[in-house]
Amino acid sequence: MIVKKMTLEEKAGLCSGLGSWHTKPVERLKVPSIRMSDGPHGLRKEVKLKDDPKKTQTVKATCFPSGSALASSWDKSLINQVGKALGEECQAEDVSIILGPAVNIKRSPLCGRNFEYYSEDPYLSSRMAANYINGVQSQGVGTSLKHFAANNQECRRMSASSNIDERTLREIYLSSFEYAVKEAKPWTVMCSYNRLNGEYASQNKYLLTDILKNEWKFEGFVMSDWGAVDDRVKGLKAGLELEMPSTNDENTKRIVNAVKTGELDEKVLDGAVERILRIVFKTAENKKKNISYDKKAHHNFARSAAEECMVLLKNEGDILPLKKDANIAVIGEFAEKPRYQGGGSSHITPVKLDTALEEMRKIPKLGVSYAKGYEIETDEIDENLINEAKNTAKDAETTVIFAGLPDRYESEGYDRTSMSIPENQLRLINEICSIQKNVVVVLSNGSPIEMPWIQNVKGVLEAYLTGQASGSAVTDILFGDVNPSGKLAETYPKKLSDTPCYLNYEGEADEVYYGEGVFVGYRYYDKKEIEPLFPFGFGLSYSEFEYSDIKLSSESIKDSENLVVSVKIKNVSGIKGKEVAELYVGAPKGNVIRPVKELKGFEKIELEPHEEKTVKFTLDKRSFAYYDVSIKDWRVLNGTYEIFVGSSSRDIRLKSKVDVLSEVNIKKKYTRNSTVGDILSDPNNKEIGKMLLSKIGMNTESMGTDALGMSWDLVLRAFVSFSGDEFKEADLQNLLNQLNR
Ligand code: BGC
Repeated sequence: MIVKKMTLEEKAGLCSGLGSWHTKPVERLKVPSIRMSDGPHGLRKEVKLKDDPKKTQTVKATCFPSGSALASSWDKSLINQVGKALGEECQAEDVSIILGPAVNIKRSPLCGRNFEYYSEDPYLSSRMAANYINGVQSQGVGTSLKHFAANNQECRRMSASSNIDERTLREIYLSSFEYAVKEAKPWTVMCSYNRLNGEYASQNKYLLTDILKNEWKFEGFVMSDWGAVDDRVKGLKAGLELEMPSTNDENTKRIVNAVKTGELDEKVLDGAVERILRIVFKTAENKKKNISYDKKAHHNFARSAAEECMVLLKNEGDILPLKKDANIAVIGEFAEKPRYQGGGSSHITPVKLDTALEEMRKIPKLGVSYAKGYEIETDEIDENLINEAKNTAKDAETTVIFAGLPDRYESEGYDRTSMSIPENQLRLINEICSIQKNVVVVLSNGSPIEMPWIQNVKGVLEAYLTGQASGSAVTDILFGDVNPSGKLAETYPKKLSDTPCYLNYEGEADEVYYGEGVFVGYRYYDKKEIEPLFPFGFGLSYSEFEYSDIKLSSESIKDSENLVVSVKIKNVSGIKGKEVAELYVGAPKGNVIRPVKELKGFEKIELEPHEEKTVKFTLDKRSFAYYDVSIKDWRVLNGTYEIFVGSSSRDIRLKSKVDVLSEVNIKKKYTRNSTVGDILSDPNNKEIGKMLLSKIGMNTESMGTDALGMSWDLVLRAFVSFSGDEFKEADLQNLLNQLNR
């Protein structure tokens, strides 16, 4: 009804924002303006300064762990709670839509924005995203699932084309969004800057309409990333409803004109306006008045969230947890000036900031000496700082070095050029290791780094960028108040040249070829048998867990049926702890090139000392399927699939097998260029194949089909040449009719 009452100009106007962060109101029709803000791991609400309205600042908000860290928790309920807390803060700050979560796949460790993204694996990424969305939206606040799609590098992000084959796109890059859209129904989706197979995401009908809306049934509206619109009218036709930020109505005029000249059907504009209005009114209806949130409680929650995310990578000789009555040396400027979030549009102003140094100094009987060791702001080696650090470290029982990537190393807007930490930190670690045998390194970084020093240190805690309470969370883990339970949501390769897209990353002249196909992350390292520094899904605990008793609900299923897999996990240590059990499925060998295994389930459980629990996973058709481009659908090939359950992708503890029978009968289409092998491997036509071979004097009964050698790949038309007079062109036509019947 409202759309009908709107003028053409009002409708076209509603399709772009008001300023940087609002939609436009239509006052005469009581259409409110709503506000959106970044996202994703805290609220970045920009406000104008009172004394200088040209300048802005962002309001204080709780800084939760960033995406790469949150995913390392592998904890669906935790990320849901984080979403709820963010929703509460949005309500308190009058923000209707938070711009997140960001779910682009980590194709290379170099992507400057990896800290914001979840994983190299679409199953993990999409499950985390769905739980985040459910959490935020349960508070009556919308989300914007971004950046749709295939925005996997920052280099030339506004012009490059991600050139991806359809199967890879479906199985890896779109899968990271698909479950989140279908399951959690985000109120909005944000399209990405880049082009996909040549066409800008902001005007890509295949992405925005065919897949997102028609196939996945997305009911909200699509907004552009900030400045991502190339051709506004084309964008509207393709399914981009809202352009952000304002273009001062430049594009409003273009839309009006396009309707007047007949270039754009007004019905398309009406549809877009209706989608925007539905969400605008939904947020208005859900707006809570006079809300405030408990900043202290949110800080405490940020602390416990951070504790779930950190990943213990090395703990030789149980150097950790540290004793609380020891003398320790704390080295590295990050200990007093933590790096706890990434740079760019997600950068928020935290309510409070804990530092590890201060937190450690609060422990009553702990002797803490500190030396800076390096300056965060430069890569230059300062010999004085190094000598001072060595003096501080030499007499301590243990030295904890805080290292990692400074802000300028990783940010939205550009990619890293290497996986190294700064030169001055590398030198510091080496120097300290030369005089101290008990070294623990605490890392703050948003994406994998090389660790040439790994053999020389006893402990490594990957603290990631874990938000405003990272300092206290690190302390809790180092001293055993909290048992670490995070696991890597991405592979840590030994060196950059080991990475799957090493040869193609960033592309040439705006064309980026995704040549590694579906072999992204562990799918690649597994297939190539490359030993990573730390594998996907890896993380240590102070407890020890044993896996036993794998049970499958059935030995064979149809692909329309679910399979329930259960395993028992026991905490065999005297310390309460949490374990993430990971389930992978391995497809049988066949004509389709598949990864060795793929993640299809995970559960995080808490176990008291010596407690045992049963963990259950439910697998469905998608757990066994690949995307078959010839039928444009997910398909399961008949065969025996392996089920792996383990503690990491390279620490499989239990295995089993299940036969899966596809209920989809796809009729093969035979042509002159089909092969003998095609016929012989088709159970319905095997006999015809044998008959055909007899025409060229081959008796499959005596030699068996395996011994066909060269003849296996003979194309059918070749029989006309090779059979003398036995098989003519007309016989070939008859044969094809028979095969295709
Ligand atoms: C980023 C988005 C962000 C937007 C608004 C863009 O540069 O890519 O993720 O939501 O700015 O700040």
